Formats: sequence, C-alpha cells, structure tokens
Amino acid sequence: MSSLVKLVVLISGNGSNLQAILDACASGQLEAQVAAVISNQPEAFGLERARRAGIPAHILEARSSKDPTTRASLRQEYDERLAELAAHYDPTWVVLAGWMRLLSMAFLSRFPGRVINLHPALPGAFPGTHAIERALAAYRSGEIQYTGVMIHLVPDEGVDDGPLLAQEIVPILPDDSLESLEERLHAVEHRLYVAVLCRLTRREMKDTPNR
Ligand code: GRF
Repeated sequence: MSSLVKLVVLISGNGSNLQAILDACASGQLEAQVAAVISNQPEAFGLERARRAGIPAHILEARSSKDPTTRASLRQEYDERLAELAAHYDPTWVVLAGWMRLLSMAFLSRFPGRVINLHPALPGAFPGTHAIERALAAYRSGEIQYTGVMIHLVPDEGVDDGPLLAQEIVPILPDDSLESLEERLHAVEHRLYVAVLCRLTRREMKDTPNR
C-alpha cells in the first residue's frame, strides 16, 4: 500500500508559495499531500488558502520579552510546541514558505535533514529580511547585475544558509521597480519550490516503495 508523502507547511503571510504547492498537489504534478499549515501570524492569508483547500490550518502565536533570559526560554518553549504540533502530522518534509521566524534547534533537531527553506536571493547574498529590496539597492549602486532564488535544507540556526537544493538566477532590469522585481522572483519561487518538492518526493517514494 503506498501513501502520499506528507508535507507540513509553515507560513507567516500571503502564502502564494503554499498555493503553488497546493495546486501542484491537486493537479497530481506533485505526489504529496499538505497535511497541515501552521502560521505564527493570525492574519496570514495563507491560512485562508489552507482552509479553502480543506487542510487543517493552525495559528501558533509567539510571545516575546525584553529580558534576554526570558526571551530565550520563550523561544525554546515555542519551538517545542511548534515541533509537537508539526510532528503530530508525521511529515516527511517541513516546508518553510514565507515563514518569517528563526527556528532554533529545539525545533530543528526533531526533523533532521527534513526542513526546507526558500529564500529570495542567491546563496550567501542578502540573508535575512528585505532581501529583494537590498538586492535592488545593490543593483542600483552598481554592485550586482542579478539576484535569484535559493532553496536549501535547514540543518541549524544559520540564517538562510544550509545545503543547497536548487538555485536560479533572476536578472534585474534597468527599469525594475521593487514590485516588478518581486513579481518575477515570486514566479520563479513558485516554479522552483514545486520542482524541488517533486524531486524530493520521487526520491523518497523510490527509497521507501512500501510507505
Ligand atoms: C517569499 O518571497 C519568500 O521567499 C520570502 O517571503 C515570501 C513569501 O511569499 N521569505 P508568500 O507568503 O509565499 O506569498
């Protein structure tokens, strides 16, 4: 008896990458199922996309503190709760799709080699937030000619860093605005994320044919 590879998708916002994954599952292009979607932001539109697709959509809000010790223990607690919730769905892959929160080892050690991240820049360039804005500024000051998209495994707490699964260059055009560049990057993200997940899923099904 074979069953579909299960994905748990973590989001914080619009969820257009989640939508690309849902569409690929629905069309059969991606032989996987999104078992659950978890957001740290209650307003994330991606939650609505999950509900429309009939998929469990969870909100897990984080608390923070000005005190560094309390902050560290809150982070630990949050990541343990998040891992517990994700593990409940027994995912083959935990897919970060616009998840805007650093994950500590309290989460990552529960899913070794099974957490995948998407970042709208090339490896080593512009880690962290506002990567597209920073790439455009660097282009305008003559430092770079192009940017890109990367998809990588998340083995540890390094920011937008880890074994590379795919990358694609996206040229920056002289008359690009932030919006036009974002639009082209998102189109690449959607295609590339689905392609990587198809590849991983096929490999997983070959390695464990009786799953
Ligand atoms: C993507 O550009 C992703 O690379 C970045 O946040 C954006 C999320 O977009 N980290 P969406 O929520 O999938 O529409």
